[in-house]
Amino acid sequence: MEATKPNILQVRDLHVQVRTTEGFSTLVQGINFGMKKGEILGLVGESGSGKTVTSMSILQLFDQKNMKIEGSITLQGRELNGLQTKEMREIRGKEIAFIMQNPMNAFTPVFTIGHQFVETIKSHTSLTKKQAKELAIDVMKSVNLPDPNRLLRKYPFQLSGGMLQRVMIAMAACLRPSVIIADEPTTALDLHNQLLVLQLLDKVRSEYGTSILLISHDLAVISEMADDVIVMQHGRIVEAANVFELFDHPKHECTKQLLNTRPTFNMEQQTITLMV
Ligand SMILES: Nc1ncnc2c1ncn2[C@@H]1O[C@H](COP(=O)(O)OP(=O)(O)OP(=O)(O)O)[C@@H](O)[C@H]1O
Ligand SMILES: [Mg+2]
Repeated sequence: MEATKPNILQVRDLHVQVRTTEGFSTLVQGINFGMKKGEILGLVGESGSGKTVTSMSILQLFDQKNMKIEGSITLQGRELNGLQTKEMREIRGKEIAFIMQNPMNAFTPVFTIGHQFVETIKSHTSLTKKQAKELAIDVMKSVNLPDPNRLLRKYPFQLSGGMLQRVMIAMAACLRPSVIIADEPTTALDLHNQLLVLQLLDKVRSEYGTSILLISHDLAVISEMADDVIVMQHGRIVEAANVFELFDHPKHECTKQLLNTRPTFNMEQQTITLMV
């Protein structure tokens, strides 16, 4: 009875406004969507359509003084909108992980990858340092990251952007979040690294049953990865459909335009070699 399973993440009537000198101005409105366990939901739309505002609102990463977030965001039935900062901090990383465009921003340059990995795990679990390191290595192995021991001894600047992004995803997967929000996770990468990162996200989904909100302006990426897709324009959802339906029978003008400007991209046609 797949259809009756409750959604892991449910967003209802999300309306986000920002304070300006002339009062509140709307950034996104009427946002409704749900995510099932193990589903990849693609979120596409032209630049400025509200994709990042939507994801930042789910994670409540906005300064609450200047932003008004109305509507309901439930994670496994629990309302997130209105939670205290401390409660939300516990949810971020542990239950909803965030993968951003530039992984370098997510790491501190002065500590090794291993140190940061272990500290992240320790801050959300009661594991000892030794256990946290073992968990890090296990997860890196399970997602096919090569030579985890060596990777953990490196500093962020010693890794390529693509490798850092993959470490970031492994780090997120370690805590078995029910949801990963990946905002343009491959935009800063070359094609080879894009493929590795997308394959890794897919592996995390199949290995851990994680639901992934994959944000991209690139419909080629979405067509390879997503089960369902929502399209945003001017702060609203203009189309939502199963990925095949959307690509075969796009309804909204905006979707048609995005489809017309799409580059071709096929994960299966590429031969991938893993290197550190
Ligand atoms: N912190 C903020 N304060 C005020 N306005 C904002 C803020 N963040 C985003 N906006 C505005 O909200 C709108 C949506 O921006 P958003 O960053 O969500 O677009 P996007 O779809 O993620 O675009 P891109 O594809 O370029 O990343 C834009 O008009 C942007 O200027
Ligand atoms: Mg964005």
